Amino acid sequence: MFKNQLIANDIFYVGVNDRQKHKFENMIPLTNGVSYNAYLIMDQKTALVDTVDISFGDLFIDKIQSQLQGRTLDYLIINHMEPDHSGSLRIIRQYYPEIIIVGNAKTLSMVEGFYGLVENVKEIKDGEILSLGSHKLEFFLTPMVHWPETMMTYDQGEKVLFTGDAFGCFGTLDGAVLDTDMNVNRYWDEMVRYYANIVGKYGAAVQKALKKLTPIDFETICSTHGPVWRENISEVVDLYDQLSRYKGAEGVVIVYGSMYGYTELMAETVAQGLAEAGIKDIIIHNVSKTDSSYILQDIFKYKGLIVGSPTYSNELYPEVESLLRKIEIRGVKNRVFGYFGSFTWAGAANQRLKTFGETMKWPTAEISVEEKQGLKTENYQALLELGHQVAELVKLPYLESQHCG
Ligand SMILES: Cc1cc2nc3c(=O)[nH]c(=O)nc-3n(C[C@H](O)[C@H](O)[C@H](O)COP(=O)(O)O)c2cc1C
Ligand SMILES: [Fe+2]
Ligand SMILES: [Fe+2]
Repeated sequence: MFKNQLIANDIFYVGVNDRQKHKFENMIPLTNGVSYNAYLIMDQKTALVDTVDISFGDLFIDKIQSQLQGRTLDYLIINHMEPDHSGSLRIIRQYYPEIIIVGNAKTLSMVEGFYGLVENVKEIKDGEILSLGSHKLEFFLTPMVHWPETMMTYDQGEKVLFTGDAFGCFGTLDGAVLDTDMNVNRYWDEMVRYYANIVGKYGAAVQKALKKLTPIDFETICSTHGPVWRENISEVVDLYDQLSRYKGAEGVVIVYGSMYGYTELMAETVAQGLAEAGIKDIIIHNVSKTDSSYILQDIFKYKGLIVGSPTYSNELYPEVESLLRKIEIRGVKNRVFGYFGSFTWAGAANQRLKTFGETMKWPTAEISVEEKQGLKTENYQALLELGHQVAELVKLPYLESQHCG
């Protein structure tokens, strides 16, 4: 019944859209939903590449059966074991008991660990080729993009690369699947948000994977989330290259927490200083209002970060502290930093912000401002100067040695 979209000769899209889940990994808002992509290759042997979240198991089986028309499923190739992709593994095994599960050693140990499956499995090694008939599938191990078992599968004849989560993005597929058949503008920010929140810590592993892909002549990228990329391959690969080098564009994100507006006014003043010094992309985020996944998205996008916080029970404002932890966890590199704070009787915010900049090893503006009670003229001037100093640092070119994650 289902008419699955054809991606290349004999390769069909059998993924699903999730417009129900509110938060990915129970944390990241799915404002535009998400797709779980899976692909079916119909050759002398049939092969499914990845599965979908188990909430969509029934629909998934229907889509597969529509394509198979009574044929059996010979192989399940697993590029990534995270449950948004491996979740339907057991139901696939129930429908197709003879199916051979194909994965690397780490994958197969997770197949056993998560699902207790040990029979009818086939371990493949880096560079190994599996023939389905006319389709030859070559496997590339790309560990830690963003789990230890992550790998990619390359259809040599069709020049299609199945990449797992790499090059994936949030956002459902509303009708079309191939980038050539849609306006892709709405996916770029969602790709950065996906990267910043899910892959962000693993820049070095992504760089390694990109180097491994250099000699491969792929013309189509089939990721597990978002559009299938063909027309925009160079943009997608470039974006991943920039993000994994932690290379930000000329722009500054100001993040602040504020209970009564004092720190907020400081943020506005710093922004004015940045604008005076010629920075055109300035984004101010109120940490209590904007979800941190969007703040992280912008932090990955731009080179400058300025953080402001009131002192709160001798500590940072907790929402600011929480964001700083998320940045630390990701080991974001190559940012330039500035900070400011406010207090009423004994300031502690600026000391913590200073330590944060040192921990991150980021070049930091010499000037910082910690305001007691209301805004005074000298602090107003100093906040403008903070904006000027960060602007100068942002405009300095990246050194080659800074580039690599
Ligand atoms: C719950 C709470 C805890 C605070 N703890 C401290 C503190 O430990 N030391 C201090 O100097 N001021 C403290 N303050 C005062 C604020 O840091 C100060 O008024 C600040 O300028 C408020 O900035 P805002 O208007 O941006 O929220 C506290 C205020 C609140 C509401
Ligand atoms: Fe994943
Ligand atoms: Fe995923």
